[in-house]
Amino acid sequence: VRAESATGFRTVTYRWRDDFDNAEIDRLHAEAFNAGTSEGRDWRAVLAGRSLGWVTARDEGHLVGFVNVVWDGLVHAWIQDTMVAANHRSRGIGTALIESARDQAAQSGCEWLHVDFEDHLSAFYIGACGFIPTSAGLIHL
Ligand SMILES: CC(C)(COP(=O)(O)OP(=O)(O)OC[C@H]1O[C@@H](n2cnc3c(N)ncnc32)[C@H](O)[C@@H]1OP(=O)(O)O)[C@@H](O)C(=O)NCCC(=O)NCCS
Repeated sequence: VRAESATGFRTVTYRWRDDFDNAEIDRLHAEAFNAGTSEGRDWRAVLAGRSLGWVTARDEGHLVGFVNVVWDGLVHAWIQDTMVAANHRSRGIGTALIESARDQAAQSGCEWLHVDFEDHLSAFYIGACGFIPTSAGLIHL
């Protein structure tokens, strides 16, 4: 599935279950979550085995955004690792990634899309992406 959105002067392409190199996800993840250097994770194996799907955003082929959608195999799906390259933020790419993830999860038969996040991201998830605020819990293992 492919969609496009004009973000300023260029066109960003969004794809569901797009092919990717581990290194390009790793670079984006390191930048987005301050991991600094590459973590060497095998994203292809992880996503193939655990995800309903994922959305990539590419600007002239370069990976500039990504979100993973994990699920319970039934009707619940969860947003994980939403990330946009620092030099592409505030152009609506993050919102478009979530919108695409939401559409794909719905088309796959899911009825609920969950996300948890730190307070400072409320303007993004609640304000821009349309999630309803709810209570959630977390245990660090
Ligand atoms: C969060 C993130 C994915 C947003 O991507 P983005 O492409 O910049 O988002 P959008 O342009 O669609 O933002 C739409 C609106 O959401 C809000 N918003 C976006 N990022 C925000 C942030 N980091 N903090 C607070 N509000 C934010 C703003 O209201 C924004 O509108 P504005 O640009 O007109 O102010 C991006 O900042 C990112 O990769 N951050 C680092 C990784 C991260 O924290 N991911 C979330 C993990 S739960």
